[in-house]
Amino acid sequence: MSSRKIVQVAASMPTSDGAGVRLKRALGTPRVPIVDPFLMLDEFSSDDASDYIAGFPNHPHRGFETVTYMLDGRMEHRDSVGNRGLLTSGSVQWMTAGRGIIHSEMPQQEEGLMRGFQLWVNLPAAHKMDPPRYQDIPPAEIPVVEGEDGLWVKVIAGRYGEVVGPVGGVHTEPLMLDVKLPAGGEARFEIPAGHAGFVYTFEGEAQFGGEGEPTTVQCGLLGVLGDDGDELLVRSEQGGRFLLLAGKPIEEPVARYGPFVMNTREELEQAFADYRAGRLAT
Ligand code: CO
Repeated sequence: MSSRKIVQVAASMPTSDGAGVRLKRALGTPRVPIVDPFLMLDEFSSDDASDYIAGFPNHPHRGFETVTYMLDGRMEHRDSVGNRGLLTSGSVQWMTAGRGIIHSEMPQQEEGLMRGFQLWVNLPAAHKMDPPRYQDIPPAEIPVVEGEDGLWVKVIAGRYGEVVGPVGGVHTEPLMLDVKLPAGGEARFEIPAGHAGFVYTFEGEAQFGGEGEPTTVQCGLLGVLGDDGDELLVRSEQGGRFLLLAGKPIEEPVARYGPFVMNTREELEQAFADYRAGRLAT
């Protein structure tokens, strides 16, 4: 076994989206536009309701998957064909937009807090026009592995040891873990050969890459994993918490604009035309 190394570290960028929701964009920035198959990672975190309360009113998606992971607070979700749900603290919604959905995502704070992530995962050309699909997963259905030394691993997708996450049937075979390490803690994670991936530290700090020369990834920084190695060794001097994502690269051309991610410019134009004509989500 050899550990993946971190080959690039990049700061998240403050931005806003929807109706003026303030967030930090960790992936999908000019410096790190894509880690195929992952297109975007946004962290939203605030105790000031004016940062996000206008939410993300009705908007379309086509050609990829959006994953919402709530840490604190709630997100009310509605779409144009009548699906409706309330994502509570600790829950995950893995939404495969496929050929198209139009939805709204409206944050609500809980005890003054609102914190979570949205991740965008690409779909291969052969599945961009599949029917939409939702996997709404409440916190009780997401396994957490706790080690004696204070290690805490929430398995959202893929596997950690023998524990398998609840998200299934995703073409890019993703690994998605939320990991907390205490000060002085360490852990190792299997990363499937050929998968590309990254870590995003959102509390404290951690060192990735094993014995040689590990790379420290501080809070608010993204670390892109190199291709070589079949595991990832991590330790944390001061304690930290990070997301670990890995997935099978799609290796196709990406044409993206706003809420649509297709393979060609013509397909993007078709998505806009379908949206304007009311054909996107029917
Ligand atoms: Co959306």
